[in-house]
Amino acid sequence: MKHEPFLSATTTTVATVVLGPADFRSIADILRAEARISLGEGKINLVQSRLARRLRECRLDNFPAYLRLVRDDAEERERMIDALTTNHTHFFREKHHFDHLRAEILPRLKARADTGQPVRLWSAGSSSGEEIYSVAMTLAGTSPGEARWLGGDVRLLATDLSAPMVEAVAVARYPSIGADQVPLPYRAAWLQSEGGEVAVDPRLRALVTARPLNLFAPWPFRGQFDVIFCRNVMIYFDADARASLEARLVAQLRPGGTLYIGHSERLSRTVAARVQSCGQTIYRKPEGA
Ligand SMILES: C[S@@+](CC[C@H](N)C(=O)[O-])C[C@H]1O[C@@H](n2cnc3c(N)ncnc32)[C@H](O)[C@@H]1O
Repeated sequence: MKHEPFLSATTTTVATVVLGPADFRSIADILRAEARISLGEGKINLVQSRLARRLRECRLDNFPAYLRLVRDDAEERERMIDALTTNHTHFFREKHHFDHLRAEILPRLKARADTGQPVRLWSAGSSSGEEIYSVAMTLAGTSPGEARWLGGDVRLLATDLSAPMVEAVAVARYPSIGADQVPLPYRAAWLQSEGGEVAVDPRLRALVTARPLNLFAPWPFRGQFDVIFCRNVMIYFDADARASLEARLVAQLRPGGTLYIGHSERLSRTVAARVQSCGQTIYRKPEGA
């Protein structure tokens, strides 16, 4: 599958205002400071065209004025970061992860729930929620009867830096075309067609909590997770930021818990030494760790 960069070359916005190298570096510094996203020099044209629309909407005709606004106004800073990040995602992306979840992890999660233990799954960098609802459908199977075990203490969490993405997770409505990626039995059981959209069944929606969270801010969790999906997020961070995030993700897993990362991501050597590889970009925290 083609990798979609945060800064996609498919943008159609026509830039009318020129972004100079110094202003580009200031924007890159803000992105690094706020989200730890690393922007190479080669992205200057892309940044210019991505932000041209923001300048127009703010009725500004030059980047220095826009940068002054961004420094003074936290909301515009958030909008700028949103404009510069790509939220590309789709249902059952990297399907082998969901096959693994169903075949290898689901029986253990059911066993925990059956004995009254909490079951917690987290999509970190969830974008608009297709990932967490793919997880939810995998856990729920293909009928309400199969999903009955989810009535135990089972919670799914989706977090993202972007407030509009978090809102999209909560709304849980997607263009019908996106539902083509969902295996038919899941689709028949859990997605309802409404006009040109599909709505996720309220019973699955109720399992999912959506929250804004910058992965580099302190995390508000009291417990650990059985499963963490953090896919196609870390590639955009520099090596130090990646390594520290990976270590925190592993620390946040329950012993025996599973971490799924994106197909083009690799764990740093130190973190890889602390987990067991159990499939392509799938890692298990050893019991007793
Ligand atoms: C390409 S999407 C990946 C979505 C999904 N995980 C997948 O694999 O399909 C990357 C997401 O990471 C989010 N993101 C980027 N930097 C972040 C940060 N520092 N903290 C939290 N989320 C971040 C972006 O807003 C975006 O929605």
